[in-house]
Amino acid sequence: MPKVPINTPIMDKEEAEVVQKIMSERYFTDQSYEGGKYVREFEAALESYLSVKHVVAVSSGTAALIAALYAAKIEPGDEVILPSLTFVATANAVKAVGARPVFADIDNFYTIDTKEIRKKINKRVKAIMPVHLYGHVANMDEILEIAEEYNITVIEDAAQSLGSSFKGKMSGTLSKMGCFSFYPGKVMTTGEGGAVATNDDELADSLRKIRNHGFDNKGNIDGFGLNLRMPQINAAIGTVQLKRLPQFLIAREKNAFTYLKYLIDLSDKITLPPIREGAKYNWYLFTILHPNRQKAIEALKNAEIDARVYYDPPVHKTPAYNYGGPLPKTEMISKTTLSLPVNPLVNEDIIQKVTEILKESLN
Ligand SMILES: Cc1ncc(COP(=O)(O)O)c(C=O)c1O
Repeated sequence: MPKVPINTPIMDKEEAEVVQKIMSERYFTDQSYEGGKYVREFEAALESYLSVKHVVAVSSGTAALIAALYAAKIEPGDEVILPSLTFVATANAVKAVGARPVFADIDNFYTIDTKEIRKKINKRVKAIMPVHLYGHVANMDEILEIAEEYNITVIEDAAQSLGSSFKGKMSGTLSKMGCFSFYPGKVMTTGEGGAVATNDDELADSLRKIRNHGFDNKGNIDGFGLNLRMPQINAAIGTVQLKRLPQFLIAREKNAFTYLKYLIDLSDKITLPPIREGAKYNWYLFTILHPNRQKAIEALKNAEIDARVYYDPPVHKTPAYNYGGPLPKTEMISKTTLSLPVNPLVNEDIIQKVTEILKESLN
């Protein structure tokens, strides 16, 4: 691992202790509708953090997206509008329920462009999945307006944006359902894991059934479902991590503002992260546009600093899709985007070093 990873789990004694405790209890999973003791504790903690009525924890962010799509009754023959500049899981989840992903271009904040959504609307479109990429919150006011106009469900892919907010409301709670990931590279982790947040009682009930092979709260099979359960150990780690999340996010924000201070001098050559009015980012990534990023990546690598490209190719140019272009802005950004480490292990010295290297890479 490089000395400065792009993102890495930050765990302590308390996480190790809960793992040991549950190992000794031999309580690994729970097939109850509610999800079991540690899962329910984690869900309740997330409900409180997000100020949302229901959280249903599942086995991954991908599982969260699939569960949400099933709960929204998205079926073969339906279309779902989503950005192409995203992790391929967003589109794969749509494909997994048998629907067709329809790719829309992005706006100046690297999130789905609402004007482009309008161009893709037709009778088959049943859902819009905005992605809060890099922790940048999408243009939710306009997305919700379009959804209402055409009676379409909005499902947020908030896998990268836990802790980001828009006009004081947490990302992932701005629409019908929001999907989170707790993969180890995220702002907090459960190992593998995910969750769906919703304020809708009926959807929460559907999600709980879909998580566990369709079993309802009386133990009867009431429809389709899968095993999307979150293990108890993962949930217990999550409860500890969630307590630490506010501190993690303060450190990330401090680092992001330090970057902005240092990199402002280079802003005629690189593009700094655009911040949407009303939005507060979790700074999952600090993403710039760099005209010659390969040179920067190599030099950073030599200094053991991990910088990454998210995402090239964009999803519509990957083999499982390979349709839906041209998406000019997506294609242009995917060729210049470069994410710098902004995680809580980064400090001002590292940011200074990154700045020097970027400066040289622009010569
Ligand atoms: C935007 C986005 N959507 C979905 C996922 C899928 O989450 P997971 O890896 O937990 O399945 C991820 C993360 O990996 C992601 O970044």
